[in-house]
Amino acid sequence: MHEFRYKRNDLYCENVKIRDLAEKFGTPLYVYSYTTLIGHFLKLKSAFQAVNPLICYSVKANSNLAILRALVDKGAGLDIVSGGELFRAKKAGCPAERIVYASVGKTAYEIEEAIKSGILFFNVESFPELKNIQHIARRLKKRVKVALRINPDVEPKTHKYITTGKLTNKFGIDFESARRIILLTRGFSHVEISGLHIHIGSQITTGEPFAAAITKIIGFIRGLKREGIVIEYLNIGGGLGIVYDREMPQTADKFAARILPLLKKSGLKIIMEPGRFIVGNAGILVTRVLYVKNTPKKKFIIVDGGMNDLIRPALYEAYHQVLPVIKGFGREAEAEKADVVGPICESGDFFAKDRVLPLVEEGDCLAVMGAGAYGFSMASNYNSRRRPQEIMVNKDKAFVIRKRESYGDLVHNESIPREFK
Ligand code: LLP
Repeated sequence: MHEFRYKRNDLYCENVKIRDLAEKFGTPLYVYSYTTLIGHFLKLKSAFQAVNPLICYSVKANSNLAILRALVDKGAGLDIVSGGELFRAKKAGCPAERIVYASVGKTAYEIEEAIKSGILFFNVESFPELKNIQHIARRLKKRVKVALRINPDVEPKTHKYITTGKLTNKFGIDFESARRIILLTRGFSHVEISGLHIHIGSQITTGEPFAAAITKIIGFIRGLKREGIVIEYLNIGGGLGIVYDREMPQTADKFAARILPLLKKSGLKIIMEPGRFIVGNAGILVTRVLYVKNTPKKKFIIVDGGMNDLIRPALYEAYHQVLPVIKGFGREAEAEKADVVGPICESGDFFAKDRVLPLVEEGDCLAVMGAGAYGFSMASNYNSRRRPQEIMVNKDKAFVIRKRESYGDLVHNESIPREFK
């Protein structure tokens, strides 16, 4: 559910007309709904109230400071994966004890910064990483908490690029190795394994894979207890799917109904790391039609947004709904199959393929829906394109939360060696 709706023929974000935003700020343009963003966070929070989880929003989904601050203000923690995300988390005012840090490849520098900041814990992905954390923590004379990321070997039934919980994926540690590591680490002076972590994949639309993974891990924790090892936290990761097309993902309440009984019985402190569920449908990409090109085989609607702005269709063949910003354009009944493509020099540069769309003309605007998660955060400057502006709407107000980049920004860090002159 989201706050992007038609009133008469105009697409609105909350009480603001998208066409006015496109006019005022130019395109391509990301537009987010504050009400949708916070609404999704609160839905999850209330569905899981019985275990009072720490919901650490996954920064990688959309790392704009305004989005982070809005969520942190409502009590969210943050799930980070790099020094850059730690920097953002601190800038957004997130208390350190609400930050968890995952990633298979944390550098010594990043580990040191995170320890100094006093984050809640690291989600550790390998034994060499654990030894490195112990080494750095000892040097800094700090005792740190960690959670081991377990790879529970379950099939999440999602796109292969966003599956993470199979043993053929690079993520996490298998149960047997985890047990050995936990026993070995008992002798570590500066590291304490106080939690276990799983994240089995992204855009998962049913509760079953989660239930399977959680059941496995709770059984494992019980086994550890028999050996005298007490685990305090269980981090169940993110991965909750949203509606892009015709999928019917579980609601927060349905998800809770499936897994809350397991969590409650475990008596563990629960952490969650949702990204897409919170921000995915809270954002759209608005783009303007540059040209309509008919070839003997196809019709192409060429727009001013490209794969550098939103890479999901190019990278995963992901489906995003494409809607006219003004419905019908006065020709309601007419529709035609077309590809919506960007200006970039790659055939993978498309937002929609063979899609039945209303007839559009040069200058009309289209909205690429469900672009709030992994949209701007995966944007690049490919083809020396400036990354788009981002706008946050709250009721009838629109705030610029990121300016469009300038040409100067593109070359800001570059220099030409003197010899070349
Ligand atoms: N926790 C960990 C350890 C993760 O790796 C991820 C996402 C999340 C939480 C948040 O997952 P979410 O709730 O958003 O599904 N770029 C891809 C998605 C990659 C997800 C990477 N990890 C896409 O556009 O579909």
